[in-house]
Amino acid sequence: MTQWQPVGSGDPRADNVVSVQNLERPASERLAGYAWDYVVGGAGKEQTLRDNPAAWARHGLRPHSMVDVSHLTTALALLGTPLAHPILVAPTATHVRYHPDGERETLRGATAAETVMALSAMGSTTATDFGADAAALATPWWMQVYLQHDRALSHVYLDKAVAAGASALVLTVDTPSLGARDRERREASGASVGVTYPNLDHLPAEPTGLPAHRRVWNPFYANDVTPSDITALVDRYHLPVLVKGVVRADDARRAVDAGAAAVIVSNHGARNLDTGAATADSLAPVVDAVGSAVPVLVDGGIRRGTDVATALCLGASAVLVGRPVIWGLTTYGAAGVQHVVELLRTELEMAMSLLGAPSIPDLTRDLLQRV
Ligand SMILES: Cc1cc2nc3c(=O)[nH]c(=O)nc-3n(C[C@H](O)[C@H](O)[C@H](O)COP(=O)(O)O)c2cc1C
Repeated sequence: MTQWQPVGSGDPRADNVVSVQNLERPASERLAGYAWDYVVGGAGKEQTLRDNPAAWARHGLRPHSMVDVSHLTTALALLGTPLAHPILVAPTATHVRYHPDGERETLRGATAAETVMALSAMGSTTATDFGADAAALATPWWMQVYLQHDRALSHVYLDKAVAAGASALVLTVDTPSLGARDRERREASGASVGVTYPNLDHLPAEPTGLPAHRRVWNPFYANDVTPSDITALVDRYHLPVLVKGVVRADDARRAVDAGAAAVIVSNHGARNLDTGAATADSLAPVVDAVGSAVPVLVDGGIRRGTDVATALCLGASAVLVGRPVIWGLTTYGAAGVQHVVELLRTELEMAMSLLGAPSIPDLTRDLLQRV
């Protein structure tokens, strides 16, 4: 992508983009073949992919009336960092597919929208460059981690990320192997066009000739991650470690016992295990298990301010957004990323005012029809 131009007038507000979903079609028209299939697809028959967004609405809201909401605020503190609102940018790989400046462009949009972004280990920007940009913008950021079988290989890029100023690590624990992503596999010929993984370029070349039944494993991604890895990261880096990809109360407890500073309820955007529960349905048991000890975050299918409000009513401290941010980046660059987060923020404010919940702690389960 050399001659990148935004769609329309270049200003999503002027183009009347009124909901994040409005950006999906223009993004799909830009990203043909593999690039689009990679973004949009889920695992298997994509049951969980469909259910993730649908499940938020199933909880139903029971608003208060006659509440003074004239001083409404979405402000919160998360892991000691003050935030204007609870809508964060999820780590997603290879942003150079969507914009020539990759994650640096996403960071500009996230910063303008007053939020925090996690850089994917499989990002197209080095943690060192990303950290320099973030420092210049005076914005906090997190580094997402996929561990390698040889943990020393992981330390190579994590050392750099920490030196570059990452304020937390996001350890993804739901990917001992990829899921059956049919759309990606069908389009695999376009997989590597223009894409590099500069944080991982020290990994040895992938061996060829693995027997078919072993190809489920990527030889460089660890399939032996356990809670002791959380402890090891905390001990080595002395940073908060958010554990991403937990959907069960017992696993949330194991993560917290091992030193997790937060748990992210996530099924990887339904890209790994199909027929797994929607995250909206996994959240409450995790909050009940560990929510009094650590913040619980959630992602998966968040497309509306009411989805954010529902997540917070269920006990989440914050939400992360994956695909819509990519749609925004693809169509309008940083302005699109900013717009996606701001649309959700505005809709959250609308939802809070209509729920009679003028601050984040006012979003409680009592406002839900069904927990
Ligand atoms: C294209 C794409 C790439 C992703 N890459 C990563 C990644 O590198 N690391 C990671 O932890 N999660 C990754 N995820 C999962 C997201 O962090 C997040 O869990 C998910 O997108 C949330 O669901 P949503 O897309 O419905 O908002 C990726 C998701 C997508 C859609």
